[in-house]
Amino acid sequence: MSENLATVSYIGATILFILSLGGLSNQETALRGNLYGMVGMALAVLATVFGPTVTMAGVPWLVGAMLAGGSVGIYAARTVQMTQMPELVALMHSMVGLAAMLVGFSTYIDPTASSHLTGAAHAIHALEIYIGIFIGAVTFAGSIVAFGKLSGRIGGSPLLLPGRHFLNLAGLLVVVYFGYQFLQAQTPADGMMPLIVMTVVALLFGVHMVMAIGGADMPVVVSMLNSYSGWAAAATGFMLSNDLLIVTGALVGSSGAILSYIMCNAMNRSFFSVIAGGFGTVASAPKAAGDAAQPAGEVVPVSALETAELLREAKSVVIVPGYGMAVAQAQHTVFEITKHLRDKGVKIRFGIHPVAGRMPGHMNVLLAEAKVPYDIVFEMEEINDDFPDTDVVMVIGANDIVNPSAQDDPTSPIAGMPVLEVWKARTSIVMKRSMASGYAGVDNPLFYKENNRMLFGDAKKMLDEVLTALKA
Ligand code: TAP
Repeated sequence: MSENLATVSYIGATILFILSLGGLSNQETALRGNLYGMVGMALAVLATVFGPTVTMAGVPWLVGAMLAGGSVGIYAARTVQMTQMPELVALMHSMVGLAAMLVGFSTYIDPTASSHLTGAAHAIHALEIYIGIFIGAVTFAGSIVAFGKLSGRIGGSPLLLPGRHFLNLAGLLVVVYFGYQFLQAQTPADGMMPLIVMTVVALLFGVHMVMAIGGADMPVVVSMLNSYSGWAAAATGFMLSNDLLIVTGALVGSSGAILSYIMCNAMNRSFFSVIAGGFGTVASAPKAAGDAAQPAGEVVPVSALETAELLREAKSVVIVPGYGMAVAQAQHTVFEITKHLRDKGVKIRFGIHPVAGRMPGHMNVLLAEAKVPYDIVFEMEEINDDFPDTDVVMVIGANDIVNPSAQDDPTSPIAGMPVLEVWKARTSIVMKRSMASGYAGVDNPLFYKENNRMLFGDAKKMLDEVLTALKA
């Protein structure tokens, strides 16, 4: 493939990626957005493999690597449970970071990569390598810890080392000092030691940054690492002088940053403290056992039959899905119930919290999969004022996102996080298996409210029973 054709293909792929992001911003166009992304990626891969930078001798290696990587990808995509998606995404981010690190080291030791560069061009190339490996190492280590936290292999409570901020600052100074040493190095052998020291510091920084973040703040970490992985890819693009990788990395990096900003707003966290890492730790420190904020009280359990009765008598119903709906895979039954109630003239809507579930848009994906019409799915701020006029709210496997202590208890780990004010409805019904807490590990005073009912059991099983009772 000629250089011109490769460039045209790269521009085409870039346009398709931008169209893809545009499409993904809306549920109705998300499918099209995905298609644009897939075609763009296929074009990008073909233009790279058969482009001017790869010799024919390299093609079998690339095809072999693509077959191996593609097989692992297909296997992972086919076997992963919807509830494991956030972990898989975190693992994929770590791969981007690892790739940036490896490309950085190999570019540095490759004698052909920089032998033609002199003066400022040589220094800029060295700086690209240094920064690229730094971003890659932070992304790699941070994503591995995020994977551990999201999959429950590492505990959710924040690790608060004494003098945490000073440690980070000292790390940064070490990175800057060795960066200077690295730029002064005349040969790869001279520069290797500063590069390795910086990489170790960056890895430790990545681990420390995510370890210091409490479970309740993980959504922001997920989107932040998404952004970091984009910048790591862009850094790789600079090292390899690949324009498409730079543009694509910048697209992922900036869209991830925008998503982080949205997540911060949703959780009422400061964007800048998130970027610095280790944020929200004062508020999210776990409470001591037997803390006064433990709401004591009685809960009122109901049966599926009683739930069906309440729904049948209601004129307006709001469904609030959460992580438990994803675990139980109850979305199809939820849709059946929705259809049934709508046919009976009940006004039924969905209220979606921005951090419901375990990844951005988690609930929207599940509801779209079950073919719930988009026009009855509302975001938190669109529906929060309507709860006082709602007869019944069904909270399906959600907990933290409907916890009134976010508003009432300033010492709560989720204090200040906007929540769906379901307790303002005439009756709320919470469906879950037990009195266990949610992801943030906090008790929920909603359960003890007078107008709240608890329907205990697996969400899918209980909703099946409710549907049968409704149809009877
Ligand atoms: P959670 O607060 O985690 O509550 C989910 C509830 O579902 C649990 O209390 C659990 O109670 C119940 N449950 C689990 N399996 C169930 C089943 N099979 N049937 C019925 N209920 C089941 O979820 P949420 O309300 O969706 O809030 C999300 C939380 O995750 C927030 O704290 C958020 O910060 C965090 N988080 C979000 C993200 C993103 S990006 N969305 C990423 C990381 C973390 P039982 O065990 O009693 O059944």
